[in-house]
Amino acid sequence: MSEEMLETLTEQVLLGAKYREIAPDLVRRIGAQELEKRRSLKEAVKATKNKLHQVGGAYQPGRIDYEKGLALLRETAVSSPDQFRAACNNLMQSHASTRERLPILDDFYQTILADLPPVHTVLDLACGLNPLAYPWLPLPLDVQYTSVDIYGDMLAFIQGFFEIAGINGRTQQRDIIGNPPTEPADLILLLKTLPCLEQVDKTAAANLIEALNGRFLLISYPAQSLGGRSKGMVENYTRQFEELANGRNWRVRPFEFATELAFLVTTEP
Ligand SMILES: C[S@@+](CC[C@H](N)C(=O)[O-])C[C@H]1O[C@@H](n2cnc3c(N)ncnc32)[C@H](O)[C@@H]1O
Repeated sequence: MSEEMLETLTEQVLLGAKYREIAPDLVRRIGAQELEKRRSLKEAVKATKNKLHQVGGAYQPGRIDYEKGLALLRETAVSSPDQFRAACNNLMQSHASTRERLPILDDFYQTILADLPPVHTVLDLACGLNPLAYPWLPLPLDVQYTSVDIYGDMLAFIQGFFEIAGINGRTQQRDIIGNPPTEPADLILLLKTLPCLEQVDKTAAANLIEALNGRFLLISYPAQSLGGRSKGMVENYTRQFEELANGRNWRVRPFEFATELAFLVTTEP
């Protein structure tokens, strides 16, 4: 595989309407793997797009109209907190991962975060539209909330949401496999993300966990597949989490909700 071929592949993939907002680093990482495996550039481009779909596009079945979303948020932000929450709820339906969490959202963060000491910094990794769940988070008003994902347009929308809601938030477009964040944070959210990263690189979850610098980690897994079936997922992901936790000096509290299995980790002794 030549550097030139990888550049061509990356350019070709980023020309596609469904891929142009994705962090180029991730396109390059997956592209390099596929060029090693496939017989031609054309096959490698196709396989790269498939993989990118699996880890990102599959969660956004329809095109999200971010302009319209921001207009709705602006309108409801000046009417009432209930209407603003209803707008957030509505918008979270456009991403499969947050949509699955909506039936449990009233309990999810309240239950898991109930006993935490005050949290001042949150890092929401591979966030999707989860920052829109901010009104459900039992956090101090001045918390600094950093959202990280691969989609530039989604992150611009989230930045707009932070501004409208008066949240001390910022966004980073970043491939957390190749470039895991190391900045310290009180709470790091890794919601339903590790299995997704492992579709690109089997060692991604362990490498990421090793690099992170969080006092508390909230790691979760889906309790049902995108198609809605459960197929022993809870047992399977419990085992995966235990392997990840093995040998680490962690204190762990498990939580099982209808659509999500979560582990709150205290990393400090
Ligand atoms: C299963 S969704 C989880 C979204 C969110 N954490 C939640 O639970 O609602 C996986 C997310 O990971 C993002 N993603 C995939 N690969 C990534 C990578 N290498 N670096 C950063 N984000 C990534 C996708 O864009 C998608 O938003």
